Formats: sequence, structure tokens, C-alpha cells
Amino acid sequence: MVTVFGLGFVGLTTALGFAHLGYKVYGIDVDAERKSILRKGQLPFMEPEMEDVLKDNLGNRFFVTDDVETAVKDSDFVFYCVGTPYGRDGSADLKYLFSAVDSTLQAVHDEKYRVLVTKSTIPPSTTAEKILPYVRSKGGTSERFGVANNPEFLREGHCWEDFLGADRIVLGSEDKKAQAMLIALYKPMGVPIKCVSSSTGEFIKYLSNTLLATMISYSNEMAQVAETIGGIDVADAFHILHMDKRWNGGTMASYVYPGCGYGGYCLPKDTNALLAQSREKGFEPQILKNVIAINDNRPAAMAQNIAGKSYHDAVIGIMGLSFKPESDDVRDTPAARIIRELIKMGYKNIKAYDPVAMDEFAKYYPELDIDFLPSAQAVYAASDKVAILTAWEEFREIPQWGDKLVIDCRYML
Ligand SMILES: NC(=O)c1ccc[n+]([C@@H]2O[C@H](COP(=O)([O-])OP(=O)(O)OC[C@H]3O[C@@H](n4cnc5c(N)ncnc54)[C@H](O)[C@@H]3O)[C@@H](O)[C@H]2O)c1
Repeated sequence: MVTVFGLGFVGLTTALGFAHLGYKVYGIDVDAERKSILRKGQLPFMEPEMEDVLKDNLGNRFFVTDDVETAVKDSDFVFYCVGTPYGRDGSADLKYLFSAVDSTLQAVHDEKYRVLVTKSTIPPSTTAEKILPYVRSKGGTSERFGVANNPEFLREGHCWEDFLGADRIVLGSEDKKAQAMLIALYKPMGVPIKCVSSSTGEFIKYLSNTLLATMISYSNEMAQVAETIGGIDVADAFHILHMDKRWNGGTMASYVYPGCGYGGYCLPKDTNALLAQSREKGFEPQILKNVIAINDNRPAAMAQNIAGKSYHDAVIGIMGLSFKPESDDVRDTPAARIIRELIKMGYKNIKAYDPVAMDEFAKYYPELDIDFLPSAQAVYAASDKVAILTAWEEFREIPQWGDKLVIDCRYML
């Protein structure tokens, strides 16, 4: 009943989620390696609980297929969960999305009504001004295709937990039939379903991500203010701030805390995409522009802190490469930006360790010439000083290993 294009964090979670609810789900991806890993019942990335769910559903309710025609013909819903990376001027690049929409339209010519649902993050007005006109221009009439968006709010490292415990389902569409079918599809989840216009649906996702980014950039700027004034314990100050009952009891406080700047797949590209979209429509948002600027300047400031007054032949140890702990995702990770800055400053002797992300990092950033060592202890032993760039729990022990300088860029010690 459901076809999902794109089997990354969002697509695989969506596909397995619908399979778990009892629907028959086809999964389609263009990445041959990803498909072959999935067909073996393994995950192509690190994500708790999902491998068991994959094994339970593979071959009975969830099918990884290359046969787009059969999948789409058999489906009432087609979900698009493909990447929407940086495009020109920071805008969202929609080529993967349109390629998947094209494959759908080419696959079916019957008169059955199907709902095309974008789960990928797309700038406000994309459904109304780009996707819908495109589908109609290709002969996809309103009798055959309803168009909607359904933004995703999951957190990497918590994908399955966030699917099961979703706070709300947002359905953005002007098409009443599509809306009604989607409500029925999601009803078994038993969570609030909010039906809004297509542009509102898209905007809610950016509202969420730009607010998180703003809290992070605010915290980083405040940490820099405090450090410039001096005599202030930054970590203590933030922990005491969090004791306010208006912050307590949720995980939001973790975004109001300084660090290396936000990274990962979503916040950097989504803040830039909304800025580009707003500019294109004629408004220059000042807070958003500066949130991005603060984040863009953070790696250089961190690299300065790490370098201090060291000679260029100093050995610098890097602890942590993934963009956050419990994840092997290195897309737009602050560690890469900071290491690039250090190399630019002349520090060529860099040793690094991450419990899970070293292979991914080496694959993503082959231009960064650093040595990967098998343990945090090995990096500590080989370095003149070490910098913590990802807040892995195991790094809390580092100060007990000796008296080398530890630059705690995550304020975790
Ligand atoms: N990762 C997150 O935490 C998260 C959270 C919410 C929303 N999102 C949004 O969801 C979207 C997907 O993110 P992700 O992290 O899952 O990306 P991802 O890179 O992990 O997965 C995207 C997948 O789409 C596949 N793909 C590309 N073109 C295709 C095509 N034409 N047909 C079939 N498959 C195709 C790729 O091979 C890849 O496997 C993005 O728009 C992202 O902003 C991501």
C-alpha cells in the first residue's frame, strides 16, 4: 500500500514504521550498496533498535525493490524521503526529489488515485509552487494524484523511539481527499494529527530547526561573551540556567548549551535554505542570518582555542568526529570544520579517535590528512594536547589520564 523513495534515516524509519503498523511497504533507493546491506537485514548506519525491526519486517511486510513500476502500481501512497542537500546560494537542492517524482509519474498510467507525499524537508511554498504544478504539467491530474507534505521531526540516534512516540503528525495539503487518506493511514499511531496548508506544513519544520539552531548559536555567543569577560565558569552557568523550572523536564535544555557549533545533516542546510528562500521572496531575516554567521565562525574560534600558543609541530589529539554522540553521522560535523581550520593554520600533526565514526569520517573527508588511532588512550599518549569535539561519555575520564592540556570544546568535563 505504501512506496517509500529514499531509505536513509527518515525513509527507512518511515518504511519500517508503516510496516510495523501492518501495511505492506516497498522501499526504493538509488544507492546499490545501501540496498544490498538492507537486503541482508543490516542497517547502513548506526541507529538503536532499528535492525531488529528491519529483521522482523523484511520480506513479509517490507520489501526493498528495484521494480518501481510494480511498487507504485500496488501503492495508494508514495512517500519521498530523499535527500535535499545544499544547492546554489544555500538553497535546498530538489533534484533528488524531482527525480523520484518523475520515476513515480512514469511508472503508472492507470486511473487510480494516489497520494504523493513529501517527507523530505523542503522550503515553504515548494509543494504549492513547484511540486504540484510539476505533477500537473506531466499529466498527473487531480483525479489521479493528490499532493501533500508530511514533515519529519525525528532525531538521529532516536529514530525508532521518535517514530513510535511522535508528538504530532503534520499533514500539509490543500487536497481534501489526500488529507482524508493520510489521516486514515496514520490513525493507528494514536497521536495528534494536524492538517494545515501545504506551505504551513513545510514552514513548521523550518520553524523547529531554525529555533534549535538559534538556541545553539545564542549559547555559543554567550559562552564567547563569558570567556572574553573572564572569571566565569561557563558550564556551571549554563547548568544553573537549566535549573529554572521552565527548562526542566525536557531535552530542549540540551540545545541551550555551548559547544562546537551545530552540525549534522539538517540544521546547517535547513537554516541556509530558509534564509535563501526568504531572500528570494524579498525579506532579509536578521536573526537567522546571524545565527548562521555565528555558527560559521565557531570552528575558527574553536581552532584558535585548541592551537593556543603551540608551535606548528605540536601533536594535536582530536577526541570525537561525529556531529553528536551515539551517532556515526559525520555530515557537516563541526570536527571536520575545526580540523580543516587547524590544518590551514599550519598544524599538520593531528591524531584522532572516535568510537564509531572514523571510517565514515575518512570516507567523507579524504582531503583531511590526519592519523586515526584505535583508542582515546592512544591519541592521548601520542599528543601534546587533546581537544574534545564530540561529547562521548567515555571522554569524561580523560583528565584522569595525566596532566596534558585538555581543551573541552563541548563543556562536558
Ligand atoms: N536525518 C535527520 O535527522 C532528518 C530529520 C528530519 C528530516 N530530515 C529530512 O529528510 C530528508 C532525508 O534525510 P535523511 O537523513 O534520511 O537522508 P539520507 O541521505 O540518509 O537518505 C536519503 C536517501 O535517498 C536516496 N535517494 C536519492 N535519490 C533517490 C531517488 N531518486 N530515488 C530513490 N532514492 C533516492 C539516497 O540514496 C539515500 O539513501 C532530508 O530532506 C532531510 O532534511 C532528516
